[in-house]
Amino acid sequence: MRIRPFVPNDIPAIATIVRDALRENYPTSLYLDIHRWWRDGFLIAEVNGHPIGFLAAVISSDGQARILMFAVSSGWRRQGIGRQMMDAFIQSCVMRGIRRIELEVRVSNEEAIRFYKRYGFELTTVLPKFYTDGEDGYKMLKQF
Ligand SMILES: CC(C)(COP(=O)(O)OP(=O)(O)OC[C@H]1O[C@@H](n2cnc3c(N)ncnc32)[C@H](O)[C@@H]1OP(=O)(O)O)[C@@H](O)C(=O)NCCC(=O)NCCS
Repeated sequence: MRIRPFVPNDIPAIATIVRDALRENYPTSLYLDIHRWWRDGFLIAEVNGHPIGFLAAVISSDGQARILMFAVSSGWRRQGIGRQMMDAFIQSCVMRGIRRIELEVRVSNEEAIRFYKRYGFELTTVLPKFYTDGEDGYKMLKQF
């Protein structure tokens, strides 16, 4: 397994992970835009040349990082791949002088919330009906 920067050829594999793990469907242009905004904030975990997970983040106008998507293919979870991607991402933030990371997570997503808490993210506010299916979200924030 290795962590490397995203390249546009990854889009079909990532779109499959997004459909399965995040239950969303995004246009190709979204991935290209994220890539253009901040190359070091878009990371791929690959095994034998095939993407099995990714983390995509942008830098918001006030200079903090925002994780937009983060997922590992279901068959590859609980093996430390998410941890390695998050470690690499935090390293990218440090290199850019970023000391604040925010993200949103479904209130029902206990596994991800536990994962983020271990990384020092704290629950801040509830975002009513944040998701397209009507579920509430939590905003989580890490400062370091
Ligand atoms: C959140 C997510 C990305 C984490 O990825 P992951 O690769 O499973 O993460 P890790 O393996 O590093 O850690 C997950 C758990 O496995 C455990 N783990 C890590 N290595 C392990 C190993 N070798 N054996 C057993 N357990 C292990 C970790 O301790 C952690 O447990 P905990 O959450 O109960 O504390 C993944 O669960 C996922 O894709 N979820 C669906 C999409 C999603 O919800 N994304 C977040 C949206 S905001």
